[in-house]
Amino acid sequence: MAEFFLPKNSTIKKGKTHAAPAGAAKVRKFKIYRYDPDAGENPRYDTYEIDSEACGPMVLDALIKIKSEQDPTLTFRRSCREGICGSCSMNMNGKNGLACTTAIEDLKGDVRISPLPHMDVIKDLVPDFTHFYAQYASIEPWLKTATPEPSGKERLQSPEDRAKLDGLYECILCACCSTSCPSYWWNADKFLGPAILLQAYRWLADSRDEMTGERLDQLEDPFRLYRCHTIMNCANVCPKGLNPAKAIAETKKLMMERAV
Ligand code: SF4
Ligand code: SF4
Ligand code: FES
Repeated sequence: MAEFFLPKNSTIKKGKTHAAPAGAAKVRKFKIYRYDPDAGENPRYDTYEIDSEACGPMVLDALIKIKSEQDPTLTFRRSCREGICGSCSMNMNGKNGLACTTAIEDLKGDVRISPLPHMDVIKDLVPDFTHFYAQYASIEPWLKTATPEPSGKERLQSPEDRAKLDGLYECILCACCSTSCPSYWWNADKFLGPAILLQAYRWLADSRDEMTGERLDQLEDPFRLYRCHTIMNCANVCPKGLNPAKAIAETKKLMMERAV
């Protein structure tokens, strides 16, 4: 695995092996990144052998089985197990995705699981989202208006204008895209990254929002928006099939239109 796929604090060594139970019908090996900052040890990959015939079909099923039956110290996030909450994003065999919607049988050979690349790690598969959420807050992700509601109580939107939010509103903020973006790896302190820029465009594209100029001003900066070099990793990994690179291109177009 290329070094750039590893989390920030990684000097990886080989870890423990947890053998499959006797009589296991079909053994699959999971090599899982383990790191506990409180233990004062370097990260390692532990190996867990499971009977995949006695496990649900998804990677999240395997992680839950390992935690329940082999190693209760293994730490990961999950909630909905439906691809909706975005909690279980991680790197599986070198590609970011959601553990709950990634089928074990689609992963070849031993399954290597790491936290999202280039994030600080809190423990094992749990990355620190503090900076990511602060960047999200910075784009003020809510409807902003200057005028009263035309009807006195609500702002209507035509079906055509509502359709402009398709491909944007479905984002679950899992960060699979941002943490696969080389520009974000190297400039996450200043570049907003594909997830937050897709969210920013979601409000630029909303016919009810009246702060387009201010929102564009906030993005007008050599780093925040313009560090995207259209490498397209973001669109290739999004588990919801969204295209952050297209949203970024649309935002750059709005910038150009207002400049002429
Ligand atoms: S298209 Fe832009 S945002 Fe997407 S991965 Fe490439 S540089 Fe990053
Ligand atoms: S655009 Fe896709 S990959 Fe990026 S945060 Fe949203 S759902 Fe996740
Ligand atoms: S557990 Fe919610 S997206 Fe996977």
